[in-house]
Amino acid sequence: MVVRTINSDCYSIAALDFDRRLFDALVPLPDGTSYNAYLIKGSQKTALIDTVDPSKELELVSDLVRLGINSIDYVIINHAEQDHAGSLPMVLELFPSSKVVTNEKCKELLLHHLDLEEDRFITVKDRETLSLGNKTLEFIIAPWVHWPETMLTYLREDRVLFSCDLFGTHYATSDLFMKDEKIIYSAAKRYYAEIMMPFRGSIKGHLEKVNALDIDTIAPSHGPVHNNPDFILQAYMEWTSDSVKNEVVIPYVSMHGSTRKMVDHLTCALIERGIAVKPFDMTVTDTGNLAMALVDAATVVIATPTVLFGPHPQIVYATYLANLLHPKVKFASIIGSYGWGGKTVDVLKAMLTHIKPEFLEPVLVQGLPGESCTKDLNRLADDIARKHKETGLLPS
Ligand code: FEO
Repeated sequence: MVVRTINSDCYSIAALDFDRRLFDALVPLPDGTSYNAYLIKGSQKTALIDTVDPSKELELVSDLVRLGINSIDYVIINHAEQDHAGSLPMVLELFPSSKVVTNEKCKELLLHHLDLEEDRFITVKDRETLSLGNKTLEFIIAPWVHWPETMLTYLREDRVLFSCDLFGTHYATSDLFMKDEKIIYSAAKRYYAEIMMPFRGSIKGHLEKVNALDIDTIAPSHGPVHNNPDFILQAYMEWTSDSVKNEVVIPYVSMHGSTRKMVDHLTCALIERGIAVKPFDMTVTDTGNLAMALVDAATVVIATPTVLFGPHPQIVYATYLANLLHPKVKFASIIGSYGWGGKTVDVLKAMLTHIKPEFLEPVLVQGLPGESCTKDLNRLADDIARKHKETGLLPS
């Protein structure tokens, strides 16, 4: 771990995890991640904001020793998930007079997830403040970014917002502050897609509260610190808005090439109609890339062969995941080849219960796609183009 100064008496203690490649046994991490704790030394009290993943707890201790910290008065917990709160039992053991400061819901979850004593807690309500002497912490309860107990902590005098997972990136870097906007935009969009997108509605409300604050620095719990808050706030405004792009995402699997031929034809037909297309072969796709593509796309076309009586299992997984992530997709269809029959369309339609898109007539073909299938795919491309025109995504 490394200790770096954000500004006077406010330090980042980030555990960099360059080698981690999977999070929650689900989320791919092409660029590793970091678990960011922060230390604030006030004139009278010292506060630690969040801890780190338990795999890095010894690094946290050695950094606190390096900083010469003999006592911590408050451990602020913005989020109970173990990658931030997991080292809390060790910190409380090391600093026996310290108190955990969090909201009531977070306290409840911490007591379920960790071995803690209830009398170590101080609970706070929305907009309550805590004085460290010359510094004031203000707590902003912000449920569902991305658990029900999440809160943000605002350091008033230095205008720093400690935003827990919100505005974070799974991006391990030696830079304290965001440097390359293109790289961070992409990493932040991936993070939003994988972690935050299901809670788009809640986040919209929280953005209003955050925009009303005077902020110089946003210090999230993963990835580099944002010293240009407008950059990440604008990106979140865009992603959480209701607007979609003139794009079609096609997650697909093909067993013997027939469904692949259909995907290729539809891709060309859509491009000819002025529509951007992003096909993803689900046997080799990093699901983070699929999630990112779903953030903005107006339409998704699921392409699958029929295996036995339903969709290919890889497509079932992709569809289940897409439905969980709840993107703002407006239109959907299904294409694919089958051997002798099945209920592929019914199964997939029934899985999109959260997204509830408008379904365009699917194209299913028995065996090889021939001339009639080509016509049907052109008809689907026309249907998509018409819908995109009707919603103002394509010129009429
Ligand atoms: Fe980074 Fe929800 O934990």
